[in-house]
Amino acid sequence: MATLNDLPTPCLLVERSRLAANLSAMRARADAQGVRLRPHIKTHKSTALARMQQEAGARGVTVATVGEAEHFARAGFDDIRIAYPVIGQDRLERVADLCADARLSFCVDTVPGVRAASDFFTSRGVTAEVLIEVNVGQNRCGVDPEDARSVAFARTVAESPGIRLAGILTHAGQVYKGPPEGVSKEEAIRAVSRHERDAMLRFAGRLREAGLAEPGAFEISIGSTPTMHMFENREEGDFRITEIRPGNYVFHDAMQVALGAVALSDCALTVLTTVVSRHRTASGRERLFADAGSKTITSDQGSGTDGYGQLLYDGLRMERLPHARIAALSEEHAWIDVSGGSTLEVGDRIRLVPNHACVCMHLHETAWIIDGEEVIDSLPIDARTRVP
Ligand SMILES: Cc1ncc(COP(=O)(O)O)c(C=O)c1O
Repeated sequence: MATLNDLPTPCLLVERSRLAANLSAMRARADAQGVRLRPHIKTHKSTALARMQQEAGARGVTVATVGEAEHFARAGFDDIRIAYPVIGQDRLERVADLCADARLSFCVDTVPGVRAASDFFTSRGVTAEVLIEVNVGQNRCGVDPEDARSVAFARTVAESPGIRLAGILTHAGQVYKGPPEGVSKEEAIRAVSRHERDAMLRFAGRLREAGLAEPGAFEISIGSTPTMHMFENREEGDFRITEIRPGNYVFHDAMQVALGAVALSDCALTVLTTVVSRHRTASGRERLFADAGSKTITSDQGSGTDGYGQLLYDGLRMERLPHARIAALSEEHAWIDVSGGSTLEVGDRIRLVPNHACVCMHLHETAWIIDGEEVIDSLPIDARTRVP
């Protein structure tokens, strides 16, 4: 039986029981709110983990890239949503090839994107499913649901041959900015969650008035991990949210904890690292170096995070390591500042919760599924190179 001590560092650990709890909690929320759970697999990029999600009640997968769609179609997933605009002849051709074996859909949010997809699929003699991407406040891609021109855009989509308007889709990524001044963390997440839902239901209502959407036959797809923890479905004009697409919820991370979305003990992904050096700086500060740099844990930070990940005193009980923070990173080193001394010695192993699990996974080929100190299985991150 292998234990954590047998693993080379740095490496990723996935605690089996916490993973299972995260999968079933999101499924329970989806069931309670009467929506389909279509997880975003960009978080883990692992076929095996996507299968676990399906076994735990998810229906279909969400991907960000055509390469991910190809990977999961080849692995036998037959219902794939690309939550991203598909732009360029090469990508359209690859999507068309995939349509032969899987139910596939993708996003549109610009007239040139619609025209290109329409011309392409018409020439192929097939009809592709598209969803209009909607901007509910992240200000990334998507049409403004309050702007009358967005209804006109939807009409252009609906009247274009070669594509079928299947619904609308959004990601309320603004929730990651954290609470505005004077607002509690919980209230901030709840407000974004309600806005995400309501803006989409109102937009669906406007599309119905224009004869472009019918309740029951129109997908209304939303989802981020923080907003889904607070999501409550409701009906407006016979429409309800039909689908949620959280990704990060499988693991959670220090960013979710800092936002107030979950507790540290909900985090399933940790990084095992070794103290490789220890020095006292000229100013008398104690500094440790561990083998977890930006190529292992990313240099991502989020609203309210402290340093570059949360060090753990006890990885089993998920207790924070007091008086120590990852103050800086270089590519292969975590720079750990210790105040008040530390019992950690060179060669000791220590665990941390990364700030951003999704990018962290993307940096590794394998994660290890563990049960306490015991290593249960390897988890290949086999779609990690599928960026284009
Ligand atoms: C379009 C889209 N849908 C869903 C998600 C999942 O959100 P989260 O990572 O908060 O679970 C993301 C995350 O970036 C996204 O970009």
